[in-house]
Amino acid sequence: ASTLGAAAQQSGRYFGTAIASGKLGDSAYTSIANREFDMVTAENEMKIDATEPNRGQFNFTNGDRVFNWARQNGKRVRGHTLAWHSQQPGWMQSLSGSSLRQAMIDHINGVMAHYRGNIYAWDVVNEAFADGNSGGRRSSNLQSTGNDWIEVAFRTARNADPAAKLCYNDYNIDNWTWAKTQGVYNMVRDFKQRGVPIDCVGLQSHFNSNSPYNSNYRTTISSFAALGVDVQITELDIQGGSASTYASVVNDCLAVARCTGITVWGVRDSDSWLGSSASPLLFDGSGNKKGAYNSVLNAL
Ligand code: XIL
Repeated sequence: ASTLGAAAQQSGRYFGTAIASGKLGDSAYTSIANREFDMVTAENEMKIDATEPNRGQFNFTNGDRVFNWARQNGKRVRGHTLAWHSQQPGWMQSLSGSSLRQAMIDHINGVMAHYRGNIYAWDVVNEAFADGNSGGRRSSNLQSTGNDWIEVAFRTARNADPAAKLCYNDYNIDNWTWAKTQGVYNMVRDFKQRGVPIDCVGLQSHFNSNSPYNSNYRTTISSFAALGVDVQITELDIQGGSASTYASVVNDCLAVARCTGITVWGVRDSDSWLGSSASPLLFDGSGNKKGAYNSVLNAL
């Protein structure tokens, strides 16, 4: 195969990217994105602040721009994200307790109803665990509504769109030895044991010098998969853009049947949230394929 998406399809997987609605008028950007990728995540446009800027008033203008571009080009869409401590609109930031809990439920229902039946997987809850050695929950206004907020979000999501896979998504849960990874693993195991609906774990996989790729990544992927969930690599970027590290990530996913796909967090280095100088993606700022691109294509 000669593109990332087609190469991933050879093993029944997908290869996706984050798309920014503001760049859909850039033909250099869209031609690479359309040619290479077969799964799309909206980089910001389906987040809480974008989709419910005022309580009870939903706005899908930019989310739909990304969604429609993907669909018109034959691509599937991952939904990102419904319940998160970050990128909350001001009205939600100022809520707490039972009114925040109800607002979260209403938000999940409102956004999922709009895209019902049309999303491959939703990141229902994003980044709910703490960094560091606690292995526990991140403190946030959502966490303060009660420890059951995550399972309430997943139960709400299942009812809102039974066709979507429901994912828990986080960063720094790539290294199997880290407390945060174990904390998420224990939550997913508990959810599966108690019948809380969860279908997938998203490993964001933002690799950098503080959280570098480690060869135990394959153990992380296979361990989550053994709980009975799919694993998706949802926001891959690698500071410095090492071709061999990119190949290792692909090989680790391909080694686990339930690792169903990989998404890189942007098209060209100049599109990355980390800035061009990090050189974290597969295409340079001029749209040329980098060494990392060839490494990924060969590994798929
Ligand atoms: C980032 C976007 O790339 C930026 O454009 C935005 O300013 C901040 O959010 N984890 C996530 C993503 O789940 O939503 C984040 O995306 C990157 C970290």
